[in-house]
Amino acid sequence: MKIAVLNGSPKGTVSVTVQYIRFLQKKLPDHDFKLLNISHDIQKYEKNLETFRKVIDDVRQADGVIWAFPLYVFLVASQYKRFIEMIWEQKVEDAFRDKYACAFSTSVHFFDNTAHRYIREICEDLGMKCTESFSADMDDLFIDQRRENFLKWAGDFLKAITDKAPTGRFVAPVVPAHFIYKPGKPKRMVETGDLKISVLADMGDKESNTAQMVDQLSRIFNGGCRVYDVWDIDMRGGCLGCLQCAFDNKCFYKDGFVDFVKNELDGTDIMIFAGAVKDRFFSARLKMFWDRSFFRGHIPSHIDKQMGFIVSGPLAQLPNMQEIIQGYAEIQGTNLAGIVTDESGDSVQIDASLEDFAVRCVDYAQSGYIRPQTFLGVGGHKIFRDQIWSRLRFPFDADFKFYLEHNLFDFPQNDKRYLEFSEQMIAMIQDPDMREAVRKAIKKEMLSGYKKVVEEK
Ligand SMILES: Cc1cc2nc3c(=O)[nH]c(=O)nc-3n(C[C@H](O)[C@H](O)[C@H](O)COP(=O)(O)O)c2cc1C
Repeated sequence: MKIAVLNGSPKGTVSVTVQYIRFLQKKLPDHDFKLLNISHDIQKYEKNLETFRKVIDDVRQADGVIWAFPLYVFLVASQYKRFIEMIWEQKVEDAFRDKYACAFSTSVHFFDNTAHRYIREICEDLGMKCTESFSADMDDLFIDQRRENFLKWAGDFLKAITDKAPTGRFVAPVVPAHFIYKPGKPKRMVETGDLKISVLADMGDKESNTAQMVDQLSRIFNGGCRVYDVWDIDMRGGCLGCLQCAFDNKCFYKDGFVDFVKNELDGTDIMIFAGAVKDRFFSARLKMFWDRSFFRGHIPSHIDKQMGFIVSGPLAQLPNMQEIIQGYAEIQGTNLAGIVTDESGDSVQIDASLEDFAVRCVDYAQSGYIRPQTFLGVGGHKIFRDQIWSRLRFPFDADFKFYLEHNLFDFPQNDKRYLEFSEQMIAMIQDPDMREAVRKAIKKEMLSGYKKVVEEK
């Protein structure tokens, strides 16, 4: 059987993900797994559409497609995202339609769910027949049982193609809107004082809803914010995953990106991102900004600051994108101050939402308000903390030092208060009478600490 493997690693074949595909090639020699280095070759495709069409022909001739990619910042690498955008731009969706598809990734399982969901959504939008995905830890190939699981999964994919197995949909198609936002005169201005407010946008053309919403926000802030178009940043390409930055946060690229971040964005109190939905996420260009920010590894970028988003497009129909937005804000240590979209299709309401958003951003920044993190931030932090402490200790030396200095190695093993209390209580309930007494008192006693705060004057 002919399987087109769309390799999402910017490292090309010198990639962890590709080693899994090579393992399949070795174990399943009766099948032809054709590796296509999508992310690595993306600039070639953009410059020479013939090379892009060749890849599409490989897809067209295949019996099935494996979307094989490394996790990059909650999603796939910007280069892979760009390839996906080109499918629609070049109107070659037909090459994918009705083909069996599955997603395979390697990662440390940090938001692998959102990346897999995204690829699944894209496959469904392309009319592909989606089978089960497989999200491997980077090191699964070293473990017998996990290698077996991986082979089982690949075998099931091939079998689904042979058997013409039925497949279902996870998501409904997105219903686009064609509304043009016309901002009115702001009803109130928001004083920004000493706050540093930065808006980073993929503006599109000047008349786009994104550009209009950003301009309106800028008016509400009375010019008290700096607006940057992501196309004006000197970024020569997407993150290459080369890890040259891991020791000391020095990026391999010698373009203007790092200086831009350090000179323009560092020290921002309110960081606002803006852009239109392209397929089911922001544009590849905005994604490139987030990927390239990996020159700072796993260090949160705006601890205790505010973050907001302006989205042009059907965000309410995209819960996966919503999760990424919230997860991103939380993992950067920020408070997600708000999200404004143009979905209402009502310019007056959008004006009001932008004004409310501006007020809240400034109020939260001035009062230091930070909402508690949810599972996304709490869980994400624990993954990073554990990885940087052990497996990723090398090469991520800069991360390790930062985590140490900022007490981010907050392992529960060091929490003496709870450890000692638990030890005493566990000893106590070894006595059968005490065990029953504690059992009876547990509900009430759980509240003793709270009582103090709630009842004391
Ligand atoms: C820029 C960048 C971003 C990454 N983002 C994530 C992430 O969001 N979640 C995760 O689990 N791993 C993340 N990783 C780790 C890679 O997904 C992982 O190392 C993968 O196995 C690399 O595969 P490759 O060698 O095929 O490129 C990231 C790595 C890089 C370089």
